[in-house]
Amino acid sequence: MAKHFKDLNIRGRKKDARIGVIAGGNSSEREVSLNTGTKIFEALQGSGYLVEFIDLNEISIKRLNSIDIAFLALHGRYGEDGTIQGMLELLRIPYTGSGVLSSSVVIDKIMTKKLLLCEGLPTPPFAIFDTKYPVSAKDMDKKIEQEMGYPVIIKPNREGSTIGVTIVRKPSQLKAGLDEASNHDDLALVEKFIEGRELTSSILGIEPVALPIIEIRPKSGFYDYKSKYTANMTEYIVPAELDEQISIKINDIALKSHRLLQCSAISRVDFILGRDDIPYVLEVNTMPGMTPTSLVPKAAAAAGINFGLLVEIILNHAHLKI
Ligand SMILES: Nc1ncnc2c1ncn2[C@@H]1O[C@H](COP(=O)(O)OP(=O)(O)O)[C@@H](O)[C@H]1O
Ligand SMILES: [Mg+2]
Repeated sequence: MAKHFKDLNIRGRKKDARIGVIAGGNSSEREVSLNTGTKIFEALQGSGYLVEFIDLNEISIKRLNSIDIAFLALHGRYGEDGTIQGMLELLRIPYTGSGVLSSSVVIDKIMTKKLLLCEGLPTPPFAIFDTKYPVSAKDMDKKIEQEMGYPVIIKPNREGSTIGVTIVRKPSQLKAGLDEASNHDDLALVEKFIEGRELTSSILGIEPVALPIIEIRPKSGFYDYKSKYTANMTEYIVPAELDEQISIKINDIALKSHRLLQCSAISRVDFILGRDDIPYVLEVNTMPGMTPTSLVPKAAAAAGINFGLLVEIILNHAHLKI
């Protein structure tokens, strides 16, 4: 594996290009994005790049036209979802990460799962609840019993950071879970809750390679917002202690998902390794967090890639994709 990592070298982009780190915005992950953006800004500045920090809330075409490259540090809708990527394509400003199509598909957990299934990649059984066509909790319960059984987990279709997510262990909790998800998106994803180990595989590079897998062990038992962003609330084991065969399988599924979904330069694929030894893909992230508690920097560090180099690898793959 190590032989691949050195292929992630940087092409030495000219340091006189003006780089705009775009972060913030109005999504529910604004704070996380500002944190990610600040870390990236500091790393680029430390490496001698000409860099400015742009809050998506204060963006204008004039401001965008003042930069040569956009380094996107956005999470959630209006950022991770293809919208800003479309604007940058029109303005012909190269940007980091995935393109319009990939970003808008991957932010959509349901679309992602449908595509994964088309390729025969494992993802937990699921049902969709659309608030525009409401069904009664009773009918929903019937569908769940038929198709997956309890417990289930209910998520808003296009959110992140475990926002709006509820574990539902019995039918009486179903309505509250659906209401919570519906606060964030018209579409709620009801998914079989998979008992097992939580793992994540990070994919990096133009010739994508998988970085060491991380096992995530939240002390509370649930990897929610607090467990994600509070120091010492979660134990991370990197590289995860896994049988070699399982490890190869997980990275293979992650790479296949990255390619299938046309991700570019960076992505992170979240898994639960079930008791049946099947690694189920929960979701893919095209703009994974880069905060001090974030996963991709930990995986990169385990591969000998420090934060500054990680940021430069992503930067050097910035380009227009349409
Ligand atoms: N089907 C599932 N079975 C078990 N745990 C799950 C399942 N889906 C999600 N989770 C838990 O919820 C967390 C958030 O879910 P995820 O699909 O990764 O959405 P996001 O990170 O975008 O909020 C996961 O990290 C995992 O801890
Ligand atoms: Mg996730």
